[in-house]
Amino acid sequence: MIPTRIDLPADTRARIVELLNARLADLADLRSQLKQAHWNIKGPAFFAIHELLDTIASQVDEHADEVAERAVQLGGRALGTSRAAAHRSTLPEYPLDAIHQNEHLEAVAERLAMAGTAIRTAIETSTGLGDAGTADLFTEISRSLDKNLWFVEAHLQGRL
Ligand SMILES: [Fe+2]
Repeated sequence: MIPTRIDLPADTRARIVELLNARLADLADLRSQLKQAHWNIKGPAFFAIHELLDTIASQVDEHADEVAERAVQLGGRALGTSRAAAHRSTLPEYPLDAIHQNEHLEAVAERLAMAGTAIRTAIETSTGLGDAGTADLFTEISRSLDKNLWFVEAHLQGRL
């Protein structure tokens, strides 16, 4: 850990950095999976979903940036390369053979929900460690993932 004037104890900061890097891996992986869906989706609602997926990918990219920078602010290192994310992500690999919009929507919905569950746990963990700032960042991301899951699930009405 790198020294900082932030008054959280070093061992607390180390645990928070580990948590931030775990969720950074998920978010970086999720962002690349959303782009995979954005590029390959086909179906009658192509354009709306193609655009929606790009918007969500951009938001997830911003979340990953905030999470990575928080790790460094706390005296840690951000581990955010594609290979680091692939190695550490808790999300399953994207179905690379998906074509129809419903295959993509279901794969994306599943992964948004999984990332959301992990972020909700991270809110509790960072709160328990006394880092309200990190808990607040995770809370903001949680709300955003939930909102985007709503947009995706709305296209799957009747298929839940
Ligand atoms: Fe694009």
